[in-house]
Amino acid sequence: MAILVTGGAGYIGSHTVVELLAQGEDVVIVDNLCNSHPVSIDRVEQICQRRPIFYQADIRDKNALIEVFSKHSFTSVIHFAGLKAVGESTTIPLHYYQNNVAGTLVLCEVMAEHGVKNLVFSSSATVYGDPHTVPIVESFPTGATNPYGRSKLIVEEMLGDLYKSDNEWNIALLRYFNPVGAHKSGLIGEDPNGIPNNLIPYITQVAVGRLAQLSVFGDDYNTVDGTGVRDYIHVVDLAKGHLKALAKLDAKAGLVTYNLGTGQGYSVLEMLNAFEKVSGKTIAYQISPRRPGDIAACYSDPSLAKQELNWQAELNLDDMAEDSWRWQQGNPNGFAS
Ligand code: NAD
Ligand code: WQD
Repeated sequence: MAILVTGGAGYIGSHTVVELLAQGEDVVIVDNLCNSHPVSIDRVEQICQRRPIFYQADIRDKNALIEVFSKHSFTSVIHFAGLKAVGESTTIPLHYYQNNVAGTLVLCEVMAEHGVKNLVFSSSATVYGDPHTVPIVESFPTGATNPYGRSKLIVEEMLGDLYKSDNEWNIALLRYFNPVGAHKSGLIGEDPNGIPNNLIPYITQVAVGRLAQLSVFGDDYNTVDGTGVRDYIHVVDLAKGHLKALAKLDAKAGLVTYNLGTGQGYSVLEMLNAFEKVSGKTIAYQISPRRPGDIAACYSDPSLAKQELNWQAELNLDDMAEDSWRWQQGNPNGFAS
């Protein structure tokens, strides 16, 4: 019996595959490589001394998925495959709905047809929109502010309907906060295409000399130093959360929803200082206008995951900065280095 990981060549997927292999699981990856590099799979093998089975396929290609399901017996599916750039989603919304919503729909159809009914879904803190207060608990109202976020909410609702129609499904909706960091080996990490949208890859690319300076989007928020506050979580902690979620599903959990965050918020300038400390570099920055759609502060109350999954983040800000920096320094141009 194996675990199917869609999007397993990507950033969070590859780190989760490492944890699964380390636990002795058999892993099959389906990824179309639209936002990842096949070298990530070689690196996973290098770390684990075991290679996951890999199919380069699109989850919207039903025949390709049926073929994969006919070759392997799966206990569960961890579903990372999807597009994730908020800005891009506003310019090509149909592509986002096609990939994220239709892709999940096809996947669930094939799972149902093969009697595989345990699913872990990559949701996002973005489904909380602009929360009325922080920390955020799972019962807060949801509401998307962009097509990417809406695609996640639609999938959450679709999976809720699926569960209501058939209680044999066990579904974990994991709402990630801001994943950062990299595997301790420095062999896998985040490798964004083009200019990064997210803060940490931008900071590390300035530190390594690939980009000239960081724009800090706004210093007039009602936060500790005026810059935006987020709940950064180490990707290895996040990966481990998926193994705990799988165990919960094996125990017939039904439909469950968890925040995966640390519960601790850091500002943009606090992150910048942490990276300056570990890299020993001065990271040039300028204060720029607020980025449209950004909110002042977003951090989780992760206590439900602690109670019900026996999971909590263990790595701290220094680990996040050191590990991101080690990955960036060793791979200045990502997997293509
Ligand atoms: P990523 O882009 O590194 O990984 C996604 C992987 O899915 C890539 O390898 C890509 O090639 C693959 N993929 C995309 N569409 C596909 C398709 N139709 N068929 C097959 N493969 C496809 O992104 P990530 O950061 O690892 O994110 C993984 C999941 O977590 C995504 O669903 C994302 O929306 C969600 N998420 C990410 C963050 C974040 O900040 N990184 C936060 C919250 C939620
Ligand atoms: C963090 C902070 C910015 C870049 C996004 C998605 C969210 C989720 C995680 C997928 C903010 C500031 C950033 C820069 C900056 N992804 N910043 N200069 O916006 O919290 O979340 O990724 O689900 O859905 O929206 O993350 O890393 O872009 O920004 O000052 O060049 O850094 O304003 O305060 P965000 P981020």
